[in-house]
Amino acid sequence: MKFFIDTANLAQIKEANELGILDGVTTNPSLMAKEGIKGEKAIMDHYRTICEMVDGDISAEVISTDFAGMVEEGKKLAAIHPNIVVKVPMIKDGIKAIKWFTDNGIRTNCTLVFSAGQAILAAKAGATYLSPFLGRLDDSSWDGVELIAQIAQIYGVQGFKTQILAASIRTPLHIVKCAEAGADVCTCPLDSILGLLKHPLTDIGLAKFLEDAKKTMG
Ligand code: G3P
Repeated sequence: MKFFIDTANLAQIKEANELGILDGVTTNPSLMAKEGIKGEKAIMDHYRTICEMVDGDISAEVISTDFAGMVEEGKKLAAIHPNIVVKVPMIKDGIKAIKWFTDNGIRTNCTLVFSAGQAILAAKAGATYLSPFLGRLDDSSWDGVELIAQIAQIYGVQGFKTQILAASIRTPLHIVKCAEAGADVCTCPLDSILGLLKHPLTDIGLAKFLEDAKKTMG
C-alpha cells in the first residue's frame, strides 16, 4: 500500500518525506485555504513547490464544476509537472472530464466518493485513483472501511485498474484497516502516519535495553 500525505502544509510534507516512506501528496481547496494560499499564481506555485519536494504523485484539484471548465483547469494543472494528478469531483460533468483526461493521457483522482456505484462509474471513465472519504462516512454512522473492502472486491472481480486511494483518514487504525481491506493507497494527515509508530511496549522495551546497555559499557 502506498502512503500519501493529505495536506498542503510544506513543513508537514517535508517531515513525512524525510521518513522515507512517502509516495505522494493529496491536497484539496480546503487544505490550500488552510495554508492561506490565494490566487491562481500562488496556487500553481504551491503545487510546483510540492512537486519539487516529493518524488511521487501529487493531486491538484479543479474547482470548476462544468466539463469545459474542468478540462481547461486540468490541462493547466497537468502542465505544472509530470507528477501532477488532476483531482476531479464525482459529479456528472466530472465523469465526462475524467473520460476526456483518460483519453488525452492525463491522470486523474476522482474525489468525494461515498458509494460503490460511484466507484464503478469512476473506474469505467478510467480514473487513475478513486478517493472514498472514510472519515466523513464514519461521521455519518456509515462504515467507511466496509466501503473500501466492497470497492476492492468489485475492482478485483471486474479487473478495473483504478487504484483505491482511501481518503479522509482520521486515525492510525483507519490506516491499518484500509491496508487489510485492500486499499492501494492511504492518504493521511501527518499525525495518523506518526501514530503508527506508537506502542507502549516499544517505549518500555527500549528504555530497558538502554538501561542494560549501560551495564555492558564497563
Ligand atoms: O483527502 C480528503 C480529505 O482531505 C478530507 O478529509 O478530514 O476533511 O474529511 P476530512
